[in-house]
Amino acid sequence: MKILIVGSGLYGAVFAHEATKRGHQVTVIEKRNHIAGNIYTEEIDGIQVHKYGAHIFHTSNKKVWDYIQQFAEFNRYTNSPVANYKGHMYNLPFNMNTFSEMWGVRTPQEAMDKINEQRKEIAGKEPQNLEEQAISLIGRDIYEKLIKGYTEKQWGRKATDLPPFIIKRLPVRLTYDNNYFNDDYQGIPKGGYTQIVEKMLDNPNITVKLNTDFFDKKDEYLKSFDKIVYTGPIDQFFDYKLGHLEYRSLRFETEEKNVGNYQGNAVINYTEAEIPYTRIIEHKHFEFGKGDEDKTIITREYPAEWKPGDEPYYPVNDDKNNELYAEYKDLADKEDKVIFGGRLGQYKYYNMDQVIAASLEAFRKWK
Ligand code: FDA
Repeated sequence: MKILIVGSGLYGAVFAHEATKRGHQVTVIEKRNHIAGNIYTEEIDGIQVHKYGAHIFHTSNKKVWDYIQQFAEFNRYTNSPVANYKGHMYNLPFNMNTFSEMWGVRTPQEAMDKINEQRKEIAGKEPQNLEEQAISLIGRDIYEKLIKGYTEKQWGRKATDLPPFIIKRLPVRLTYDNNYFNDDYQGIPKGGYTQIVEKMLDNPNITVKLNTDFFDKKDEYLKSFDKIVYTGPIDQFFDYKLGHLEYRSLRFETEEKNVGNYQGNAVINYTEAEIPYTRIIEHKHFEFGKGDEDKTIITREYPAEWKPGDEPYYPVNDDKNNELYAEYKDLADKEDKVIFGGRLGQYKYYNMDQVIAASLEAFRKWK
């Protein structure tokens, strides 16, 4: 069969790779000038630069972990971000190191006593906004220093104007463990992410066309292929006829610094409202000692309002947008020839492991 894959991100690449195992002829079109979608990394001065934000592979899905190992060897990177609040450094996620730095407590009991004492401020009251929700879960100190400014920057709105459901739970870890994820497996692919997609697409039965937008020849593609896997925005496929789905966007500012080690960690979050970026990524720390001794590359990540035409990064899965998505999904279900997949095609925040699992499952169902 002749299959067209729209988008060379992880979803499309996994599908393409699996399809060729069954002897299908695959064409992948990509509107950007490179493959790999948002997991794209580019080597600069011997350092793999994560061009669309920090990407840390983590999963508890053994099948997915085994699958991805075919395409790269992973290092032992463990995500342990640090928060900088007005020059004070706190370990994340919230754990005994954080509580000890914040309050000088030493034991889990002392930490729980302190949290419970602070949570009393909202006791017995139904939280009406994100601020009240966070205080009811973790107390004012952590909220003010580590949640408020960061969240307000991310959403571009005051915490008192944000709905409480955005923070459903705040995991509190009563051990001195700075590993951000609870997953069984995590790491960064040695040599970066782009090679993973390169290897997935490296097959004589796959043709890749960069700088090619599906919408330039939509009708022709729909006619000439037997099956289409579409990983672009679902609302755009239907010419936004029911309205625009909303996203949060990001702006990245990358800079080379003439120092060997700028911040001592791959990820530092800036949690105060006055600093406009949410985090600084120092790429070489994903890879342990790669790159020059006297040079490093950092990226500041700025949250940005999204308007139609901007790069869509995070779907806004509130009720209004989810309802609109459901209407588009009804239309999508009627398109027999087209599979809608990935974070844009399914309007869903997917981690990399979930995208792989979803693409493998979609292929299994279809084949
Ligand atoms: P993706 O967006 O990667 O690919 C879709 C492709 O389709 C793009 O290349 C796009 O250009 C192309 N396209 C769209 N419309 C088109 C058209 N009309 N014609 C042709 N091509 C078109 N996950 C994780 O597990 N750990 C992490 O640490 C992170 N970190 C992270 C940071 C940031 C800032 C973001 C935004 C996301 C993450 N992620 C993550 C999530 C991760 O990026 C995500 O799971 C995958 O990239 C999704 O792959 P897709 O193929 O679904 O979309």
